[in-house]
Amino acid sequence: MTERYSQITGWGKYAPPQVLTNADLEKMVDTSDEWIVTRTGIRERHIVGPGETNATMSVAAARQALDVAGLAPKDVDLIVVATSSPDHFLPSVASQVQYQLGAECPAFAITAGCTGFVYALATAHQFIATGAYQRVLVIGSEVISPFVNWQDRDTCVLFGDGAGAVVLEASVQPAGVLSFVLGSDGSGGEHLIIRGGGSVYPPSHEMIEDKAMYIEMNGREVFKFATRILGEAALQAVERAGLTLDDVDLLIPHQANLRIIELAARHLGLPMQKVVVNLDRYGNTSAASIPIALVEALEEGRIRDGMNICMVAFGGGLTWAAAVVRWGQPAQPVEWPLVWRFAPAGQKLSMAAARVRLHARQLADVASYHAGSLLLPLYTFAGLRKPPRNK
Ligand code: ACO
Repeated sequence: MTERYSQITGWGKYAPPQVLTNADLEKMVDTSDEWIVTRTGIRERHIVGPGETNATMSVAAARQALDVAGLAPKDVDLIVVATSSPDHFLPSVASQVQYQLGAECPAFAITAGCTGFVYALATAHQFIATGAYQRVLVIGSEVISPFVNWQDRDTCVLFGDGAGAVVLEASVQPAGVLSFVLGSDGSGGEHLIIRGGGSVYPPSHEMIEDKAMYIEMNGREVFKFATRILGEAALQAVERAGLTLDDVDLLIPHQANLRIIELAARHLGLPMQKVVVNLDRYGNTSAASIPIALVEALEEGRIRDGMNICMVAFGGGLTWAAAVVRWGQPAQPVEWPLVWRFAPAGQKLSMAAARVRLHARQLADVASYHAGSLLLPLYTFAGLRKPPRNK
């Protein structure tokens, strides 16, 4: 049987026009632009206005993606929406997207925190690889702002709303999704949680007084988890794709915190020029962050045919995921570098060395994190400079 690949043939994004800056937040909680920029890299975020919902944002991003792919909504075989902030528990936001888009296909939602988009991409890829479907719309969309306690400075400076979408199409060309890694460790569930509103703690006056409908986060634990897992997941995905880190042309990490991204790039030995960063203008849009960053990188001409792109995310659950995508439609079958064709052991050797380097750099950073002195002055100093804007 001919192997079936899934290629990204369309892409789109939507960010609400309403922007909340760090200066706005200074008026709401005891914080400062300087603190937010040095600790997170975030300068502003988009927040939904009247009439904007998870479904309307998804549809806006999806329409763009379909236009780029040259498809009509009725051409879509399946819609997968990754979100942790649906418009309703029931019906699924995915069904509302299918209806509002005018598509005639099955639709379902996936919840894996900020990791959701990569989970959704891997899921969509399975439907294509098995031959069940030809064209799948994959969306990451979040309206997090109603679940944020705007009096809690620990969390309210971090998040933003938005949506991104891609069209995944079946192809026999060896490109598109080359590999993926998915992971979960529920033992860390309490580190990032909305305690109320579900069946364990249903809505009630008590739940509201307890402020249990808002996101609660143990920032330090999530930070430690993220800096450990991003490098490891990316490395695994690259290895499963039969590539080495030298073959990675662009890293698109989950946009939560510039410090986390810089540490992950450092652990992998990737220069920041190869890393997409746009969190300064969006904040953490959870499952929407990777597709929005992907679309911006495309708009800025940073992605060309034949490039190997590694997407990597971490999130509530706790969860993690990475995927390697080879961009574009190669005119001829991919030419593997001579050395790997005749010496597959070379790839294994190179990745083993990369793993040793990753763990050595991680250990060094954990040591300096616990020493508590090395990194923060560095970032306080770094805060005087502007986070990269991918220009
Ligand atoms: N403004 C000013 N001071 C603040 C603010 C704020 N907005 N928030 C916290 N502080 C204070 C704290 O109260 C603390 O003060 P204290 O020392 O007097 O107690 C001090 O700043 C330092 O707090 P830390 O928590 O140590 O700050 P840290 O450097 O760890 O940065 C942050 C906090 C930005 C939250 C970081 O831990 C982080 O990014 N963690 C990861 C979060 C993340 O990625 N979440 C998304 C997960 S993905 C998903 O699924 C949604």
